[in-house]
Amino acid sequence: MAKLNIVILAAGKGTRMYSDKPKVLHVIAGKTMLQHVVDTAASLSPSKTIVVYGHGGKMVPQSLQRHSATFVLQEPQIGTGHAVQQTLPQLDEEGVCLVLYGDVPLIQPETLTKILSDEDALTLLTQYLDNPKGYGRIVRDAAGKVSGIIEEKDATPEQRKITEINTGILAAPTKLLRNWLANLRNENAQSEYYLTDIVAMAAEQGVKINTVQPAHEWEVMGINSKLQQAELERLWQLELANRLLLQGVTLADPARLDIRGELLCEKDVEIDVGCIFEGKVLLGSGVKVGAYSVIRNTWIAANTNIAPYSHVDDAEIGERCQIGPFARIRPGSKLQSEVHIGNFVEIKNSEIANNSKANHLSYIGDATIGSRVNIGAGTITCNYDGANKFRTVIEDDAFIGSDTQLVAPVTVGRGATIGAGSTITKDTPAGELTLSRAKQLTVPGWQRPIKKIK
Ligand code: UD1
Ligand code: CA
Repeated sequence: MAKLNIVILAAGKGTRMYSDKPKVLHVIAGKTMLQHVVDTAASLSPSKTIVVYGHGGKMVPQSLQRHSATFVLQEPQIGTGHAVQQTLPQLDEEGVCLVLYGDVPLIQPETLTKILSDEDALTLLTQYLDNPKGYGRIVRDAAGKVSGIIEEKDATPEQRKITEINTGILAAPTKLLRNWLANLRNENAQSEYYLTDIVAMAAEQGVKINTVQPAHEWEVMGINSKLQQAELERLWQLELANRLLLQGVTLADPARLDIRGELLCEKDVEIDVGCIFEGKVLLGSGVKVGAYSVIRNTWIAANTNIAPYSHVDDAEIGERCQIGPFARIRPGSKLQSEVHIGNFVEIKNSEIANNSKANHLSYIGDATIGSRVNIGAGTITCNYDGANKFRTVIEDDAFIGSDTQLVAPVTVGRGATIGAGSTITKDTPAGELTLSRAKQLTVPGWQRPIKKIK
């Protein structure tokens, strides 16, 4: 296969976004539009990816993660052809150049592969639209061969009736592209250097021009406003939901699910409405996720049940656990199997071994908790002295009475029992009952105060 260069145009301002951010940095499914295009480009293993930026300055190059793209500044922005001209010094001599757009975020690799299937031709990605208003139109001769692209603003009323539109995405042999771009002129309604003018040049030279269509309409939808961004977000989320349904995942409502990253599910996973998945999330077989839960960068093993309104971030949760409702599991938490974490329990940077339970109103931070431990309601690990953090260790089979404060660093020995309401500041011996609260006493004959009459 010929060397592939990919040019991504991202210099536009996006006036209609009414934002201080350049348009391509607005987000679809948790990722900037430009990052979507850069990631899709990378999946084609090009020899070079060149991003043309302008508005927003350094913000655009600085926004990208995991990429090998180079950046070219276009200043001023005087047309799509001018934008591609700026990349010429960077392009390989030989091979094929593919032009993509930072504000057309959801173009798919399969469609791009189709565009790249004829290395000697100019290939245009076109689409038939009932309402082609605003787009460049594909002009064909009597024999049906493409003879050029005419922009809406330059088109005759007759040409405006053409329903085949230019999506903007195209591929051409780099050598030919170089020659065509050198001959662009800006004698048109917008006084811009149009990339689309290369099509008439190719036709005149007898270069083969192919047209291909995207598999899905949303692949070529561009974003110019928050309204279009929101519409595309929903279309994409529905697509992701449909893919999960086709893999056998049960979704209470495919329209009420948000995936901002990658969600991998084994068999018989059930997801209720309003859940958000961020980063990379793995759900083992039989996992149930209750309504309005937010789960981020987490692995949840088989048959665990996440009850509604739970937040899980950067954690590992073992098999057959019961989490929530209203649980909060924070980064660095590792739960083994059959752990129960109930309502208003916060776990941070803690390991909890098999069959342990913290069912009500607790804070467990920087703790190592053994197996079959019972943490009573309202228990708090006091892990922070205002300057440093310390660890709490609770060994197997310990029982922590309700409303206990464990002032770290502290260890509760194996099988120990802590009486309710205790403040534990020293290690407690295994197998014994330890409590620190004052003894209960009754004051005989005590009277409540009476309000004085003035
Ligand atoms: C362009 C096409 C049109 C097509 C439409 C599809 C041309 C002349 N016209 O029109 O045929 O139907 O896209 O949406 O190409 N950009 C730059 N630098 C510039 C100008 C534009 O980087 O100087 C980038 C923009 O950021 C944007 C893209 O190129 O991502 C398209 O530019 P835009 O001005 O929206 O082109 P259209 O007039 O919509
Ligand atoms: Ca546009």
